[in-house]
Amino acid sequence: GQITLTMIKPYAVKRHHVGDILAEIEHAGFSIRAMKMVQLPKEKAELFYAEHKGKPFFAALVEFMSSGPIVAALLQKENAVADFRKLIGSTDPHEAEEGTIRRKYATDKTRNAIHGSDSDESAIRESRFFFSSMEEFFCVPE
Ligand code: GTP
Ligand code: MG
Repeated sequence: GQITLTMIKPYAVKRHHVGDILAEIEHAGFSIRAMKMVQLPKEKAELFYAEHKGKPFFAALVEFMSSGPIVAALLQKENAVADFRKLIGSTDPHEAEEGTIRRKYATDKTRNAIHGSDSDESAIRESRFFFSSMEEFFCVPE
């Protein structure tokens, strides 16, 4: 697939890392096709991460993701999902490879700086979660 959806998470926004993180994303060859800054209400954060409902970290995840503004962006590149997850690194920043965005900007497993879609299906679902067709400069396939 050609697209993936990212969110720069609240603590990275608060720490003024938005510009540096977007620069890394662009330097890695991704094109920004849509972008916005929003604060997710708790119910929206629960919906976004619905697949994790019932897991022990779910409440903390939702609390954190609704705690401040995030920057959501739709990104385009060949092999977008896999290449982007490689660029951001492991969920736990202590396990993330040297040079990855999470290694550089994440604090811990919850405050882990950035999200990346886990599949083409998730990328499409998540891009529709944040963006209307009018806001996208790339047509998401049906
Ligand atoms: P996202 O890009 O945010 O979806 O992260 P991911 O795909 O690397 O991980 P996953 O989708 O499995 O989990 C979503 C988020 O839940 C992670 O980014 C973490 O913040 C949090 N999370 C997942 N597993 C754990 C865990 O074992 N402990 C804690 N504290 N948080 C976790
Ligand atoms: Mg995930």
